[in-house]
This record gives sequence, C-alpha cells and structure tokens, in this order.
Amino acid sequence: MKLIVAAAKNWAIGYNGGLLFDLPDDMAFFKNNTLNKVVVMGRNTLLSFPGEKPLKNRTNIVLTTNKDFKVDGCTIVHSFKELFEELQKYDDEDVFVIGGGKIYNDLYPYCSEALITKVDAIVNADTFLHNFDEDEDWYLSYASEIHENNGLKFTFNTYKNNNIKHL
Ligand SMILES: NC(=O)c1ccc[n+]([C@@H]2O[C@H](COP(=O)([O-])OP(=O)(O)OC[C@H]3O[C@@H](n4cnc5c(N)ncnc54)[C@H](OP(=O)(O)O)[C@@H]3O)[C@@H](O)[C@H]2O)c1
Repeated sequence: MKLIVAAAKNWAIGYNGGLLFDLPDDMAFFKNNTLNKVVVMGRNTLLSFPGEKPLKNRTNIVLTTNKDFKVDGCTIVHSFKELFEELQKYDDEDVFVIGGGKIYNDLYPYCSEALITKVDAIVNADTFLHNFDEDEDWYLSYASEIHENNGLKFTFNTYKNNNIKHL
C-alpha cells in the first residue's frame, strides 16, 4: 500500500475541507499513479470531490463509522479491520491512500511508500500531514527536478518505509 499527497513546506495539506493548491502537473501525476488502481479515503475527502462523487476509473474505498452512509460507485468500510479485509482482494502495489489528514496520519505506518508532492510554500491550514523528514523509519529515496505551475514551485518525492506495520 502506498500513500499519495501534496503538502506544503510546513506539511499543510488542507483547509476548510478543500485542497490548498491548484497544480495541474500534480493532478496529472495523481491521475497517472492512481488510474485503474484502488484508492482509499476518509468520508471527508470523498465529500470534497466535485459532486461528492467517487473518482472515475478507480476502485473507490471510503472509510466512515456511519453504517447508513452509502454512495453509488464506492465500497464503504467502517473500520481499519474491515478495510484490511477488503484490501486482501487486491495487489498491495495497486492500493493508494489518498487522504485526508486523519486517514493519512493513521495509515502511513502500514504504507511501504509515500509519494509526496512538496510545494515550496508555507500556508495556513487546518489539516497537516505527519512530518516524514523527522521520522527515522522513513527515508527519501527520490526527488524530482523542480516543476512550476501558477507561480508555485514543487517537486515529486518518494519516501520509503523501513518498518512497515501490519494489522
Ligand atoms: N493535499 C492533499 O493531497 C490532500 C488529499 C486529500 C485530502 N486533503 C484534504 O484533507 C482534508 C480532509 O481531511 P480530514 O482529516 O478532515 O478527513 P478524512 O481523513 O478525509 O476523513 C475523516 C473521516 O474518515 C472516517 N474515518 C477515519 N478513520 C476511520 C476509521 N478508523 N474507521 C472508520 N471511519 C474512519 C471518519 O468518518 P465519519 O465521521 O463518517 O465516521 C472521519 O471523520 C480536506 O481539507 C482535504 O482537502 C488533502
């Protein structure tokens, strides 16, 4: 299982239920990596999508504790235990944790890799990602050249986990 996220320099990832940046190249990177794969998200992240609809051409798995919550085109799970049982149907390499804050920060120890788009900005936010640079279980294995969209500079980074947890 992998994690994919865009974060500011202060590890900010969201504000008021939405994203912080509009970066077309990052959107393309996200799409390229997740298309025809399995995406795992929290209920708030699903509700932040246009029309509150699942992502097209991906298997969408949504976590919520609400047993009545149902959305066409989504598999709903109610606990990490249920999630991991569901994920047994899929190749581990094909599963991407796509947010948001709560889900990233609870599931990153179970991920083998984190694909982190690091945006060269410090922004106000109400949702933050775990600091992977200060976690001794994780190391930076790849950093891309600098990209720029809408006046914002960013890099694509791969962090790897030396100490993957299993449920
Ligand atoms: N920068 C990025 O790449 C990126 C990507 C995605 C999202 N985001 C941002 O992140 C923010 C949303 O993050 P968030 O932390 O508010 O919400 P979230 O992680 O998307 O969803 C949290 C919800 O997931 C459910 N949940 C969490 N753990 C669970 C568990 N163990 N079992 C069952 N259900 C569980 C709960 O839903 P119930 O309350 O229904 O029980 C919880 O309220 C937004 O601002 C969004 O734009 C940023």
